[in-house]
Amino acid sequence: MKTKIYKIDENEINSESLDFIAEELRSGKLVAIPTETVYGLGANGLDPAAVKKIFVAKNRPMDNPLILHIAEIDQIGQLTKNVNQEDLDKLERLWPGPLTVIFEKSDIIPDEVSCGLDTVAIRIPNHKICHEFLKSTKVPVAAPSANLSTKPSPTRAQDVIEDMDGRIDYIIDGGPCEIGLESTVLDLSSENPTILRPGYYTKEGLSSYWPNVSYDTALKDQNQTPKSPGQKYKHYAPNAQVEVYIGNKEAFKKIVESKLEDKSKKIGIMAFEEDKVDNKISEYISLGSINDLSTMGQKIFTSLREMDHKEIDLILIHGVEEKSFGISIMNRLRKSASGRVFNLEEIWK
Ligand code: TXA
Ligand code: MG
Repeated sequence: MKTKIYKIDENEINSESLDFIAEELRSGKLVAIPTETVYGLGANGLDPAAVKKIFVAKNRPMDNPLILHIAEIDQIGQLTKNVNQEDLDKLERLWPGPLTVIFEKSDIIPDEVSCGLDTVAIRIPNHKICHEFLKSTKVPVAAPSANLSTKPSPTRAQDVIEDMDGRIDYIIDGGPCEIGLESTVLDLSSENPTILRPGYYTKEGLSSYWPNVSYDTALKDQNQTPKSPGQKYKHYAPNAQVEVYIGNKEAFKKIVESKLEDKSKKIGIMAFEEDKVDNKISEYISLGSINDLSTMGQKIFTSLREMDHKEIDLILIHGVEEKSFGISIMNRLRKSASGRVFNLEEIWK
């Protein structure tokens, strides 16, 4: 299959191209779309055969359900059951945005989307090109992140090309994604509002809307089964081994120096400006300032991919404290490091 790439300028949207690709999607084709979080791999969410193709293109486990992306909140009624008006009023203020919500599903949702659950995930992205595209498809677009399963999520069209060239029909190149981490997944279908995947919206941010919102306890306790099936799989793994170290810059510097003594490995470092890593002695990618975690969030996935391009064996990452947005960042880093996350205060004790 030949993958066709359409570059679309958000200041001068070519609606003829978008309408054409939307029609192609409606008739069963696979289309990668830009959103403000990461690129999605979209198919007609009401067409079981089209949705199945997503799982094949990504090598995605068949029991991991997909998010339906829509343009307007009034499409919710058709896709869900028993949604209360109070929640909808709150969502009117949060959407469009990096938030996915789990509702009881209506009967029109194909099993291929919800993978046997009686719920459905819905999101209205805040991205101009994506919004125009979703208006044009007229159908909800089922879309996971547009990477091969287990690889870091794609935040640029070139990342999608790297994983998906020849496996999907179209890529809409809308430039780099602003947030860089996937949406927060909030379950409103159960008794208490629960965050199943942390993202740009944190518990602190959402608690002004739902005061009793909490994190799924399985996010911390590895012995529990997460309510979001996707959380249990291997994720965001570059080819290199990843180690994450939490602690102050002196402690991080010490660990970097000790690791660099092993000359048999090509080492890459992802750290903050404040760490002042000597980039003449190792491959170094800056995560921005320690005081601005949004830059770190935006750069994590692309940096992991860049390290693979440089054929690094071991990536050392300066982790952050697990509070507020730091929880979302560390959720992704823990997975890309397959749990190799260390507290430097304990190491140097
Ligand atoms: O930012 C994002 O959310 C991106 C963009 C493209 O929208 N999409 C994305 O999709 O990250 P994906 O498939 O990579 O992650 C969706 C997560 C998975 O962990 C999945 O298990 C969970 O949402 N999910 C989907 N439907 C669910 C449901 N009915 N109940 C619980 N979790 C669900
Ligand atoms: Mg994903």
